[in-house]
Amino acid sequence: MIDMHFPRPELAARLANELTGASLLSDARNGLFLAQARRTGKSWFLQRDLKPALEAKGWIVLYIDFWKDVKRDPAKLIADVIETAFEQHLGIMTRAAKSLGISKIGVPGTASVDFASTLDFGALSLADALALLHKRSGKRIALLIDEAQHALTSDAGEAAMIALKSARDQMNAAVNEPTLLLVMSGSHQDKLMRLTNSPAAPFWGSRVELLERLGKPYVDWCVERLQTELPALKTLNRHKLYRAFDELGNRPQFFLAAIKDAIRELTERADEIAWTEQVSDRVLAIAAERKNADRDGFAATYLQLDPLEQAVLWRLLQSGTQFKAYDTDAMAFYKAHIGKATTAATVQRKLESLREKNPPLLWKSQRAEYSPYDQSLQDWYNFEFNAGRWPPKVSAP
Ligand SMILES: Nc1ncnc2c1ncn2[C@@H]1O[C@H](COP(=O)(O)OP(=O)(O)OP(=O)(O)O)[C@@H](O)[C@H]1O
Ligand SMILES: [Mg+2]
Repeated sequence: MIDMHFPRPELAARLANELTGASLLSDARNGLFLAQARRTGKSWFLQRDLKPALEAKGWIVLYIDFWKDVKRDPAKLIADVIETAFEQHLGIMTRAAKSLGISKIGVPGTASVDFASTLDFGALSLADALALLHKRSGKRIALLIDEAQHALTSDAGEAAMIALKSARDQMNAAVNEPTLLLVMSGSHQDKLMRLTNSPAAPFWGSRVELLERLGKPYVDWCVERLQTELPALKTLNRHKLYRAFDELGNRPQFFLAAIKDAIRELTERADEIAWTEQVSDRVLAIAAERKNADRDGFAATYLQLDPLEQAVLWRLLQSGTQFKAYDTDAMAFYKAHIGKATTAATVQRKLESLREKNPPLLWKSQRAEYSPYDQSLQDWYNFEFNAGRWPPKVSAP
């Protein structure tokens, strides 16, 4: 079977070195926060590149996706993977295995099941469980938490983050080399920043970085594979494809779909002259069409909102993490846009209605901080604003 994964070993090794190394200029030992847009390869990178790179250094790596089950307490999701790690690395029976009625765990690579030291996870804090795993295994532990910002939407999630911060501080304080590494990723930079950007935030002091995008090397890798599969594609123009991949937001799925559509359209045409010459142009055109269609979609959604909803969303998009829904300036802004004064209660109702749209337009943390639900909404606003086209207008019929 062909491997669909374009590996990024250099990037993984660099981050793994930063995480485990002792550079004075790297703060990664306090936690690495990586943001990048939806569908750009964050989860694949964490699981297929960074995890093996850290494992190769002898770390136990635990991967957790907070979106896996959004109804479950994030602390439970973390506890589950720690329990599994006890079973896998030490052969220790845990409460979860017991409650499933498993009397013997046959994990390849572990000598025997340690019946005597059955653990009760209910009685252990996250910090204790992690410290115990480290002590018993003699290995250092890295937790890779995907969609970490989701923890901010519930009290339980916030508590889990604070527990992790405390575990990190306990396990790393007295040692030269850290024994617990935390890597958190998310598809929304502003939301992830809320884990780090105020004294009340659990990881205050850390910074959110952008995960390097797949970029040109991924396009080169695709071109080589496509040319092996379909030698007729030897005339592909890489520069046009780089631009198309960029227009498509560095999203592999959209890029490959555009190539597939371009090939299909061109081979279906009767005038078959040199269709392979035209593939790259067609991919570029499809990418531009898609980008325009996305923008039109955002504009249509915005224009369907009532005037106060529009004003509230506009204010948020304009203010970013500084957004205050009800301060004097905000109330004056709304008034200027709808032509009359409004009340905080009405604004609150609009914030709720924006959250309840399908798809939702707003995200709210447990501490009542707001962000656009999806980063692409913010990107669209920035683009239109910079192009002098904000606010969107109803187009003439
Ligand atoms: N390194 C890669 N090589 C090849 N394809 C990739 C790679 N990374 C991502 N992809 C493709 O892009 C898709 C999205 O990747 P992934 O799920 O990692 O993105 P994500 O940024 O975590 O998305 P989301 O924000 O929705 O969680 C994958 O299903 C895969 O098809
Ligand atoms: Mg993901």
